Amino acid sequence: MELQRVSVIGAGQMGGGIAQVAAQAGYQVVLLDTTEERVQAGLERIGSLLSRSVEKGKLSAEEREAILGRITLTTDLAVAGQDADLVIEAVVEKMEVKAEIFTRLDEYCPSHTILASNTSSLPITEIAAATRRPEQVIGMHFMNPVPVMKLVEVIRGLATSEETFQAVMAAAERMGKTPVEVNDYPGFVSNRILMPMINEAIFAVYEGVATPEAIDQVMKLGMNHPMGPLTLADFIGLDTCLYIMETLYEGFGDSKYRPCPLLRKYVKAGWLGRKSGRGFYSYS
Ligand code: CAA
Ligand code: NAD
Repeated sequence: MELQRVSVIGAGQMGGGIAQVAAQAGYQVVLLDTTEERVQAGLERIGSLLSRSVEKGKLSAEEREAILGRITLTTDLAVAGQDADLVIEAVVEKMEVKAEIFTRLDEYCPSHTILASNTSSLPITEIAAATRRPEQVIGMHFMNPVPVMKLVEVIRGLATSEETFQAVMAAAERMGKTPVEVNDYPGFVSNRILMPMINEAIFAVYEGVATPEAIDQVMKLGMNHPMGPLTLADFIGLDTCLYIMETLYEGFGDSKYRPCPLLRKYVKAGWLGRKSGRGFYSYS
């Protein structure tokens, strides 16, 4: 089945990026968030990223307009669901929020619609169980920043059909990405490996081994990472990092995945990294 209409649920940093690459690939896109302001802010971020591409000569002004013209905004989940061939959910990393959205989407979407989640770590099988179409539910895990990063982890739930899997692999390729199939275990591959490293870097701050700046320098200059782990944690969002560590800890029952108390403290303080203006670093 050739998909034409893509709805993106959540217009934050990931949802905005996914809407952008989907519109760039020629899909008709509906972008949803909880309020007019949030959905409008999501579209404005896409508009300014596309403006930068125009300034760099990578895109014409007409192409920019055409891409933006393919994106419509809504705050109504029924509207986002009603004509979609593929829905990609990118809201907060909380099972109860995602499960409720999938149950409602199952009600609003046509019977052929594929429901994908951009979850970083939560079980696709459990999200699928919130619907009556588990064979059409799948993980489609983009990386941040979406317009730049090539990878999409594609995660089959226990009941995901081969048809759904093939359609999503093709959609990821049409969006210019390289899809990689992984199995449904906590954190999949990417965050099972990345997030314990970030958590360990936070423990190193917590235990006074070195400053955040020094830790980031070590990993950038010593390991050639493009960003140090604490800069990357701020970039991802400290709330998202904490929820991923909690999923790993609960899912594997192994103390090696316990979230660092300093990470919990920052999230409780509302220090969520770049998106809130403060995390391991300050952003103004
Ligand atoms: N959104 C969109 N585009 C962006 C961007 C953003 N936030 N930040 C940078 N870019 C673009 C720039 O416009 C530039 O584009 P052009 O090549 O067209 O000019 C390109 O990226 C390179 O940018 P810069 O030269 O300004 O900066 P850089 O070379 O330092 O690269 C980076 C920036 C690509 C973000 C790089 O620092 C990097 O790769 N960082 C690590 C990112 C990473 O690890 N992502 C995975 C996070 S984990 C995850 O996503 C999974 C999860 O579930 C948590
Ligand atoms: P974010 O905080 O930037 O955006 C989340 C958006 O979801 C917000 O705009 C919020 O208003 C909206 N939202 C919350 N509840 C909603 C609801 N009930 N209905 C509609 N919208 C709702 O978060 P993000 O970084 O974009 O992460 C979103 C998802 O993508 C999470 O599952 C996260 O784990 C995953 N993810 C994040 C990254 C990353 O690096 N940040 C990378 C890959 C995957």
